[in-house]
Amino acid sequence: MSRPTRAVIDLQALRHNYQLAQSLAPESKTIPMVKANAYGHGAVKVSQSLEDIAPAFGVACIEEALELRDAGIKQPILLLEGAFEASELKVAATKGFWVMVENHQQKEAIINADLPAPLTVWLGVDTGMHRLGFQPEDVAEVYRSLNSSRNIRQPIVFTSHFACADDLDSEATSTQIDTFKACAPVTALQSLANSAAILAWPKARREWQRPGYMLYGNSPFAVAQENADLLKPVMSFESAVISLRTIAAGESVGYTANWTAQRDSTIATITVGYGDGYPRNAPNSTPVLINGIRCPLVGRVSMDMITVDVTELTEVAIGDKAVLWGPDLPVNEVASYCDTIGYELLTRMPGRVMRVYL
Ligand SMILES: Cc1ncc(COP(=O)(O)O)c(C=O)c1O
Repeated sequence: MSRPTRAVIDLQALRHNYQLAQSLAPESKTIPMVKANAYGHGAVKVSQSLEDIAPAFGVACIEEALELRDAGIKQPILLLEGAFEASELKVAATKGFWVMVENHQQKEAIINADLPAPLTVWLGVDTGMHRLGFQPEDVAEVYRSLNSSRNIRQPIVFTSHFACADDLDSEATSTQIDTFKACAPVTALQSLANSAAILAWPKARREWQRPGYMLYGNSPFAVAQENADLLKPVMSFESAVISLRTIAAGESVGYTANWTAQRDSTIATITVGYGDGYPRNAPNSTPVLINGIRCPLVGRVSMDMITVDVTELTEVAIGDKAVLWGPDLPVNEVASYCDTIGYELLTRMPGRVMRVYL
């Protein structure tokens, strides 16, 4: 029998979440963000399972785009940070990748490139996140020079990204939308919404929307939200009990002996650790589902194992199922114990965790 640690990926749930994003903005086209290995879910499988309904895909870099093309994905693939060097532009033009243009160097590289075919570009506007994009006052001039280049395929899409759309009370999203409106021509194709905006900011809806996290069934919000509550988690991160022992009150568990039993306790060892992407800083009492019941993590997370206090369980045996996160234990909740966000836990899951697709 092989090691039971795996990420079970529910592709029906993925399609449900995509369709939810689409239904919230029926006039928009929905581009799944499949960067960072589709947030840990497997970029090729995720893209293949949305291939018949998604008009394009979004990735962070050309290597991620090439992985999808090599796997037979035919749709345009948007490079969210644009080209990192001029040589990528020829590949993008040949392979049908769309490129963001976010700064003057990228713009000049496109205009001066010797390309086999014109490129589709998305013009990034810095509406307040101050990470990428042209300053609003430069946008008209940038648009003019791109428009007059023979290397550009029309139409140019105007785009920006939100800093605080997951904060339902923040003014920042409305301010960013106003800034965008002031510099993007009303007649131009536009794209603003990430998951949080698709779910909760109808005024951010435009021709194209770019959901990532919500596709994988997790809410970008820290609070309940009516649309986010309809999402279905896609990943179930599973393992199994490989050892059981009873320890006496006063005995400690694991590296650095950072947890000591207050009573005689039954300890289950699960074969999953930080080498599988389970966070090493998960503290004592982080919930783990054993046979569907919440039990507290106790002791330090090791590279390949964790230990769980199962004293309260009436029945537990070697081979029993453990769930680290999944539909009944949101990754957001585990992340909140670990001082991080679900996005990070998902995207950093390493290749050694087998992905099993349903
Ligand atoms: C430019 C851009 N658009 C869309 C997304 C998707 O965001 P989310 O996963 O919050 O939906 C990201 C993610 O970081 C992004 O960088």
